[in-house]
Amino acid sequence: MDAQDIRRAFLDMLAQDGHAIVTRAPIVLRDDPTTLFTGSGMQPLLPYLLGADHPQGAKLADVQPCLRAQDMDEVGDNRHTTFFEMLGNWSLGDYEKAEQIPRVFHFLVDVVGLDPDRLYVTCFLGDPAHGIPRDEVSAEIWERLFAERGIECRRIDLGTEEYGNEHGNQGARIAFYGDKNWWSRFGAPDEMPVGDPGGPDSEVFYYFPQVEHDTRYGRYPHQNSDGGQYMEIGNSVFMTFRRTETGVAELPRHNVDFGGGLERIAAASIDSPDVYRVSLLWPIVEKLQEISGKSYDGGAPEVVHAMRVVADHVRGAAFLAADGVKPGNTKQGYVMRRLVRRALRFGLDLELTAGVAADLVPIVGKLFADVYPEVAEQEERIVAVLQKEERQFARTLRKGLSMLRRLNRQGEVVTGTHLFELHDTFGMPVELSLEEAQRKGYPLAEDWRTVFDGLMDAQRDRSRAAV
Ligand code: ALA
Repeated sequence: MDAQDIRRAFLDMLAQDGHAIVTRAPIVLRDDPTTLFTGSGMQPLLPYLLGADHPQGAKLADVQPCLRAQDMDEVGDNRHTTFFEMLGNWSLGDYEKAEQIPRVFHFLVDVVGLDPDRLYVTCFLGDPAHGIPRDEVSAEIWERLFAERGIECRRIDLGTEEYGNEHGNQGARIAFYGDKNWWSRFGAPDEMPVGDPGGPDSEVFYYFPQVEHDTRYGRYPHQNSDGGQYMEIGNSVFMTFRRTETGVAELPRHNVDFGGGLERIAAASIDSPDVYRVSLLWPIVEKLQEISGKSYDGGAPEVVHAMRVVADHVRGAAFLAADGVKPGNTKQGYVMRRLVRRALRFGLDLELTAGVAADLVPIVGKLFADVYPEVAEQEERIVAVLQKEERQFARTLRKGLSMLRRLNRQGEVVTGTHLFELHDTFGMPVELSLEEAQRKGYPLAEDWRTVFDGLMDAQRDRSRAAV
């Protein structure tokens, strides 16, 4: 199944099962000051998860475009993207684990057609400090589902990612973790702001035996290791708690909040550990191959990395522009600026010096025209917004990169003063300078941060005095 079919099949299944299909929210939630972007499908439903009645009932579903700016630096590997679509279904005090987990299994195995023998799951180990028990109920449901398909299903307690990295899952299909299996918008119970909802979760991973375990990510692989052998494709959160001043308390209703990564499920469906091969991203990569004359298949690692970054960032920036965001220095505008500037920077690795927006935005528009027509409808305006930023930044970038190269040729380490100069004179964002230094192996002065921050503070004081 391709990604478009999976999107449709998910909504059809949930509608048939009595869920109201709710209208998806924009990526920029204008009346939610807590976060810049819709980062998961539950975010627009927050008041209902906390207890308000939803006008469309207690069983809801949608497919929500999301943006996770915090993942920007990880883009370039085979599975991270900043922009993605999340398949979502919710029970607001209606069904619980006994209905949710079999539905996820049925969808992945019978509807999408994934090999059940390659599904691995995780459950919550419990949190005695907050009085939350180990999730035996979910584990027993998973065991039954695998047993019905004649699949062996052992359990293991791993607790933390670090312990898992040392010991591996030893082939166990169900691994129990602590905080890793607690989901809230802010992470573990102690990280949550008072009033926010959260709960234990049960995640599903797809196993790619063709990915060799990389020991940089730990001695042995397990569901939650970062090596890419196990890719998380779905997560059922049993959202039954909210944070209080002193700990956590049960919510008035026991909710379910499911999120499935559309691109990742589509990647599993074509047995590709690389999400950039799926039908919602591959046409962008194809266009990049065409305009750069470089190839993704068997291409140099930096070419593959660059194509992924450019494809992801242009997709994200196009959606932000469609939502009315413009590149700027604060909040959503700053994230958009970083996306466009990084796309331009990585475009240089493909020898694309004139920017990429004009070539790629029309493809993004076409890919989503049936479900999110706003990109195609505003194509010209979006291209103009992105190109303006590309043009402004192109000169800066060339000068900044050449200064870094020159320093390296002269055998100088990159200091906080250099980074400040790059920022102040050329407008080169410090993250980009650092990323460049890291990628090229240019040595950094140990105290760069203190020196850089000091110069930035002094500059701020100067401008304040001038005002
Ligand atoms: N809200 C849950 C997540 O984002 C489903 O993983």
